[in-house]
Amino acid sequence: MADEPLVLGIETSCDETGVGIVRGHTLLADAVASSVDEHARFGGVVPEVASRAHLEAMVPTIQRALKDAGIAASDLDGIAVTAGPGLAGALLVGVSAAKAYAYALGKPLYGVNHLASHICVDQLEHGALPEPTMALLVSGGHSSLLLAPDITADVRPLGSTIDDAAGEAFDKVARVLNLGFPGGPVIDRYAREGDPDAIRFPRGLTGSRDPIYDFSFSGLKTAVARWIEAKRAAGEEVPVADVAASFQEAVVDVLTRKAVRACKDNGVDHLMIGGGVAANSRLRAMAQRRCEDAGITLRVPRPKLCTDNGAMVAALGAEMVARNRPASSWDLSADSSLPVTEPHVPGTDHDHGDGHDHGHGHSHGHAHDHDHFHELSKDNLYS
Ligand code: KG4
Ligand code: ZN
Repeated sequence: MADEPLVLGIETSCDETGVGIVRGHTLLADAVASSVDEHARFGGVVPEVASRAHLEAMVPTIQRALKDAGIAASDLDGIAVTAGPGLAGALLVGVSAAKAYAYALGKPLYGVNHLASHICVDQLEHGALPEPTMALLVSGGHSSLLLAPDITADVRPLGSTIDDAAGEAFDKVARVLNLGFPGGPVIDRYAREGDPDAIRFPRGLTGSRDPIYDFSFSGLKTAVARWIEAKRAAGEEVPVADVAASFQEAVVDVLTRKAVRACKDNGVDHLMIGGGVAANSRLRAMAQRRCEDAGITLRVPRPKLCTDNGAMVAALGAEMVARNRPASSWDLSADSSLPVTEPHVPGTDHDHGDGHDHGHGHSHGHAHDHDHFHELSKDNLYS
């Protein structure tokens, strides 16, 4: 236990300032400050508002996480941070903070991929990920089926959405129903009171000639909007719970069907589901049933670990340390469109040029030379 890597992770890709601390696969702290209320009246995340909120929340959230974990920053083996994908300005706040802490403390820095973090977080719940891991990743910005032989180095997309992400569809349908933002949790709640078979909404890309592992939710979203418009035009009341349940059923049906198919086709006997939409109660229930029927073991983290948080970043960082992956260089920058195939951003000068072994178990001396400091402070911290 005590020799497992102790890592702090920082997440600022969207509207959650997350700071998590893990030791190997053990969660020690999961502090999250959300600016969601500040965006609600705009019906979506406003990037500048999010960046400012991250800046204000960063230091207090780091302090809260350290206190919750009962450790000192000097105890850490490394600092991990979401380098992308996400909102550029928001990511920059996290990357700058991580660099500053790592540099000041003399710890290795690990720039990691937000999407791989959504998968790796399950190690905190269910232990080491099987290899390869089959993952259904469903968030506000992404919907993909991924096969990951090694979550720190090798993530292969099998298919993804060709238009809207699953979470985006939830958010847009909620807006049409005037249910506020974000839409996922509120649709999930309304759907519990509704009939999932009340309206038969289309299941995108499920025809025999359609790509097997790709998704499409834009047509569904439009169909729901048209259905609601027609009701309103006819002066009839919109049955919100039935619409929510029927829409949700269409999304969840397609997601689980394709995910189980991907497992079967690839001979994988388990399925991991990650990302904010994995918090959806109907998705969890249907995936459980369909996986059981197919002899597949389902792994879904508890809802709080599905939506954005810092613990997931720390979990992937700890795996990087455990596998002796190279630390990121000080010129690490935020990459708003970092591809899912890059779980890790080592940077251009892998070994920091300072002769340090940045793998787990290195001594924590503060021996970066002056040139590095100059380089960091002058050009890179704010680039
Ligand atoms: O992973 P996440 O927290 O942020 C991104 O990386 O995008 O995912 C946010 C998305 C939002 O679209 C939100 O509506 C959706 O996850 N979401 C849900 C639920 N909770 C959050 N969707 C369906 N059901 C939920 N219970
Ligand atoms: Zn996310």
